[in-house]
Amino acid sequence: MAIEVVTGKEATIHFDSARCIHSRTCVLSHPDVFVPNVVGAWIHPDAQPVEELIRIGQNCPSGAITVVRNHSDAGATADSNGLPIVNTVRVRENGPLAVEAELLINGQAQANPRATLCRCGQSKSKPFCDGSHVAAGFVATGEPATASFEALAVRNGPLDVQPRPNGPLRVVGNLEVVSGTGRTCNKVGETYLCRCGHSKNKPYCDGSHKAAGFEAA
Ligand code: SF4
Ligand code: FES
Repeated sequence: MAIEVVTGKEATIHFDSARCIHSRTCVLSHPDVFVPNVVGAWIHPDAQPVEELIRIGQNCPSGAITVVRNHSDAGATADSNGLPIVNTVRVRENGPLAVEAELLINGQAQANPRATLCRCGQSKSKPFCDGSHVAAGFVATGEPATASFEALAVRNGPLDVQPRPNGPLRVVGNLEVVSGTGRTCNKVGETYLCRCGHSKNKPYCDGSHKAAGFEAA
């Protein structure tokens, strides 16, 4: 399905259904802007002030929602695709890895700094999550152990996500690993994150993809 673009008086909302992981953050927090279960128009940018729309975009973990101002006002805060101050990957319980950073994926700069990446191995849209973990009954904690780590000298900057053939996500750049409850679990400059679903040391790769026969481009 194509990206839906709805222009209001102050802002334009872009909705990419292929990226949505149905966290329902948008419809639960602002059912006036994203009206669930209706026939016809369901995105209403004029139901909230532009700053609130931008917050909705920033709270969408998958990057499915982007909110852009129609007019650039002096002193205005960034649109929802403004870059974060701290690069993070949030480990979602029984679900994907939610990254927020100045993202490159497969060498391509991403317009939206948020993306949810498959870690169950079942997505048909790898490296992105397509929700397949639900039907697959994927079980994985969102509360990995806290590693021994040191503070990063710089907490943002480019984050290069390189899916390895039949293997993990190699991630190069400043990154803080955060649990589902918001606990900082690790701080790294480079790491390998499991995307086959079989590691015994999730969210990190432990080489189990080989014995599992994991296949992914
Ligand atoms: S992933 Fe984003 S667009 Fe999809 S339900 Fe969650 S907040 Fe809404
Ligand atoms: S990708 Fe899962 S163990 Fe390596």
